[in-house]
Amino acid sequence: MQNVDGRVAFITGGASGIGLGIARAFAAAGVRLMLADMRDDRLAEAAASLTSAGTEVATIKVDVADRVAMAAAAARTVERFGKVHIVVANAGVGVIGRVRDASYDDWDWSNAVNLGGVVNTVQEFLPLLRRQGEGGHLVATASMGGLTPVPHGGVYSVQKAAVVAIMEALYTELAAEGIHASVICPGMTRTNIAETLALRPTHFSDHGIRLAPPPQAVAASGPGPMALAMDPTELGERVLKGILANDLYILTHNEFAEQIREQFEPILAAMPKEEPAMGPAAAGGVKFSAYERVLKARGTSVQ
Ligand SMILES: NC(=O)c1ccc[n+]([C@@H]2O[C@H](COP(=O)([O-])OP(=O)(O)OC[C@H]3O[C@@H](n4cnc5c(N)ncnc54)[C@H](O)[C@@H]3O)[C@@H](O)[C@H]2O)c1
Repeated sequence: MQNVDGRVAFITGGASGIGLGIARAFAAAGVRLMLADMRDDRLAEAAASLTSAGTEVATIKVDVADRVAMAAAAARTVERFGKVHIVVANAGVGVIGRVRDASYDDWDWSNAVNLGGVVNTVQEFLPLLRRQGEGGHLVATASMGGLTPVPHGGVYSVQKAAVVAIMEALYTELAAEGIHASVICPGMTRTNIAETLALRPTHFSDHGIRLAPPPQAVAASGPGPMALAMDPTELGERVLKGILANDLYILTHNEFAEQIREQFEPILAAMPKEEPAMGPAAAGGVKFSAYERVLKARGTSVQ
């Protein structure tokens, strides 16, 4: 997308943190905003501050895990603004814990919001973008934890890795329609994510994992990691730049570069050394196009 001035964006988790940082960057570039969030107090504050800066903003209280509510949010966005051009599936909850400790409820809540929220947003908004026929941009917030392991954060990494995979798939699937896809993989960012634990529904109340301490506890023990974390407004500006450049990966924390490099070394080292299992056609490496050729040769369509 070359120019976002006058376009309409729908942002989940838009009332706080990274979603609000993206909203601010979009607003400064002339984007009209529909902010969706579970917290109506925060929605009201965000809308007031953006409106006073001259941005056209509407809000909707929605749980991204609720498919019926998400369908209503998509309909409301079109009713209010006529169209939608940029869709940001950003809402998430900080279920940071080890896989070995997780209860079914830990999994179900984290899956429902951190993965289901992105799926529901894509399911409801992609048909709108396609019907409009004007291209558009789908963005999702994953995490550095979706690309590389987070210490004690295995449960969270599962959904974030899935979000990366969704956006990678859409990037190739939608290119011909002029609909672009980006995935944001931030490192630590100064937000209210610790407060999202209070949003846990009562039907997911069986805790298995020990969750992160509340922000006051971190503050009391000296400047915690959050003090060093990135400002969400800066992150929002980087996201806008990535959208304008049609980047698939929007990465913001370059201190992870070495870890990502190191992570692939054992993967490459584990590759079998003998002849390619799929024959000489794959000898140059199985790239997307080569993979498509292999599937077509087997009579399977990748459309
Ligand atoms: N803060 C970080 O260091 C960090 C790093 C990497 C990725 N992320 C991801 O960034 C995204 C935004 O989180 P943040 O850090 O800005 O936290 P935040 O708490 O400041 O913002 C998240 C917003 O999402 C909303 N939300 C939570 N569950 C929801 C639901 N079911 N339906 C609708 N809204 C819901 C919350 O009310 C909140 O306003 C999340 O997906 C998070 O996993 C955060």
